[in-house]
Amino acid sequence: MHISLANHHILVTGASRGIGKAIARQLLLSGAKVVAHYSQTPQGVADLIQEFPSQVLGIAADLARIEDCENLFQTAINQLGFLNGLVNNAGIALKSPMQVPDHQWFDDWNKTLQVNLTASAWLARKLVNHCLANQQIGRLVHISSRAGFRGDTAEYVAYAASKAGMITLSHSLARAYGKQGIRSFVIAPGFTQTDMAQDFIDEYGADYASKDIALEKLTQPEDIAYMTTLLLSGLADHATASTITINAGSYVH
Ligand SMILES: NC(=O)c1ccc[n+]([C@@H]2O[C@H](COP(=O)([O-])OP(=O)(O)OC[C@H]3O[C@@H](n4cnc5c(N)ncnc54)[C@H](OP(=O)(O)O)[C@@H]3O)[C@@H](O)[C@H]2O)c1
Repeated sequence: MHISLANHHILVTGASRGIGKAIARQLLLSGAKVVAHYSQTPQGVADLIQEFPSQVLGIAADLARIEDCENLFQTAINQLGFLNGLVNNAGIALKSPMQVPDHQWFDDWNKTLQVNLTASAWLARKLVNHCLANQQIGRLVHISSRAGFRGDTAEYVAYAASKAGMITLSHSLARAYGKQGIRSFVIAPGFTQTDMAQDFIDEYGADYASKDIALEKLTQPEDIAYMTTLLLSGLADHATASTITINAGSYVH
């Protein structure tokens, strides 16, 4: 099986680190042009530009701000001419115990929903409308989480709710626009070795991440990147509306 993403223009959010950077890199290796979005960490995107100078465009945006989401999408279109792929990867996991003051819990909830779900929905809507207007195939991959169907600890209810929302966002788009060329997929990782996972490991201990998995080591960002590349390639279009779990056997549902 040969995968070529020539003529694919793909926006990857959160491409500066972790899973997003690994996805962007694999898409670039497969021949795509990539809009590598970042927020606070330009170095990660600078690394990609250095390795693939003619294939990467870096754009900064704070996805907690809807005007930044809009600017990100429009700048990408203006620079590349068109987009036909989106990876909604950027995400935050804010620890927010039920006992914190009301205003703090509310702020944490809103910020989590804004970055993880609202920005993803905004960008997905933009990509769908753009592809429909240009009568081109559009593929979306949403990086949800095992927490999106299993749930999470009480401190991370907003995170789990935001990740659940990404799943039904994807189902809805896939079912509504499939006949017009839109394919939408979810990948739901378990613990994957990144800064985000390290925060959990620092808090709960290494065992917390590894005790449930069926394999001998934690999932690596590249494990998510290979599947994302396959889904965006067109070789898996009949899996549209599905959720692929990549959690090393840690949760079976
Ligand atoms: N790692 C895991 O165990 C795991 C498990 C399940 C699901 N996931 C999901 O996988 C995705 C990637 O996770 P990761 O582990 O690679 O995370 P990570 O290492 O913490 O990286 C997070 C990415 O999101 C970006 N980001 C954070 N806040 C942002 C904001 N306000 N606006 C725009 N971008 C923002 C960061 O950009 P900057 O660096 O530029 O700030 C960074 O690129 C997330 O959606 C996460 O929920 C991860």
